[in-house]
Amino acid sequence: MNKVLDVIKSRRSIRRYLPDPLGQEELDAILEAGAYAPSAHNDQPWHFTVIRNRELIDRISRVSKERMAAQDTGWIREMGRKEDFHLFYHAPAVVVVSMRRDALSPLVDCSAAIENMLLAAESLDVGSCWIGLAGYWFSLRDEVARLGLPEGYEPCYAVALGRKGHRPSRALPRKAPPPSFID
Ligand SMILES: Cc1cc2nc3c(=O)[nH]c(=O)nc-3n(C[C@H](O)[C@H](O)[C@H](O)COP(=O)(O)O)c2cc1C
Repeated sequence: MNKVLDVIKSRRSIRRYLPDPLGQEELDAILEAGAYAPSAHNDQPWHFTVIRNRELIDRISRVSKERMAAQDTGWIREMGRKEDFHLFYHAPAVVVVSMRRDALSPLVDCSAAIENMLLAAESLDVGSCWIGLAGYWFSLRDEVARLGLPEGYEPCYAVALGRKGHRPSRALPRKAPPPSFID
């Protein structure tokens, strides 16, 4: 099978990581792949913050969980209260993806960048997981100030990256209905 198609079908969310740090070269390659995503009006309205500081990674997890534990939605509340749950699964690196607020289509563009990063990571046998739950931390202005983001940017998602601590089976067949063709 074509290599790109194989990577697309092999990628899975990794939820256990080895503590080993990633090499700078592979990290750079993953970030560069993110920056090569398409974007509306070619705005490229993303900013990537790579956090390798264990204390900050753990802090984001802890503070997010505190907020999750107070939510009405049962599964989020339960995850927040679970002692052994770590928002980033103890990954050694977390990329916070921030979007430029005044761009044409910032959230979609940043999501395209994230998918590029996940696929690039898989192609290098680096584990990754898209982390939306970091939004509980992103909504705290004083906390986000720690990222030192450029003016006009706000974080939207995070990506956990690291050496795979487990190897899930290949993805199950997709649930969505098959495409329709109109010829
Ligand atoms: C917008 C978005 C947010 C997500 N947030 C989380 C998250 O906070 N934690 C997590 O473990 N997985 C998260 N995921 C990963 C999905 O759970 C995962 O992609 C899905 O279950 C399919 O599994 P696969 O990635 O192994 O194919 C998120 C995915 C997307 C697209």
